[in-house]
Amino acid sequence: MRFHPLGLGERPNDIHPPYKSTGLRGPREPRILVRHELVATRGVDAPRAILRANDSDLTAHGSSQPQGQAITVAGRVLDEDGSPVRDSLVEVWQCNAAGRYAHSKDNHEAPLDPNFLGHGKFMTDHDGRYRFKTIKPGAYPWGNHENAWRPAHIHFSLFGNVYAQRLVTQMYFPDDPLFPFDPIFNGIPDGAARERLISRFSLDETVSGTSLGFVFDIVLRGRGATPMGV
Ligand SMILES: [Fe+2]
Repeated sequence: MRFHPLGLGERPNDIHPPYKSTGLRGPREPRILVRHELVATRGVDAPRAILRANDSDLTAHGSSQPQGQAITVAGRVLDEDGSPVRDSLVEVWQCNAAGRYAHSKDNHEAPLDPNFLGHGKFMTDHDGRYRFKTIKPGAYPWGNHENAWRPAHIHFSLFGNVYAQRLVTQMYFPDDPLFPFDPIFNGIPDGAARERLISRFSLDETVSGTSLGFVFDIVLRGRGATPMGV
């Protein structure tokens, strides 16, 4: 299949001065082009046996329900031509409802939640569909600049079916007031590409009496791909 790379403005700038750490880690040498054939035929073939009970229910990792708004996130993982990316591994991680990660490097003053670890994994089905349950993450402060806060987000790592489909990105929530101030979100110059990182509320995916539903469809390469977000 002919592969159409993302336009320059549709992926994050390697070095984006408002996002300070990119100035330290961003590559300063030209990209090395890899022949597409080398990455278009092979990839990670994760067996379903690596999945454990409750890997797709992040609210079920403690002795009781975690604090916060329970949500269900669902969507399809597609290739450029709209074909489903089948049986592929997806990993997610996030902070808790108070904006704190269960990680030794996160020491901001929001409380940890003993019932929320904040990581999960699952596989897409034959139609490329996925679904998981979690709680809505909170906004959190970070040290990039004075009064810097990240919009609520869930980190996604997708392996696809071949290496060329590999994607690490972040899913956001609709109408977040922090969007205009976030240098990570705005590190993607193209506004339409940024919009592809925002989930949409869905009453169809909302589970009565249990969780609000959000839909986040992901395209792994080519024209219209979901941009990288790190
Ligand atoms: Fe984060």
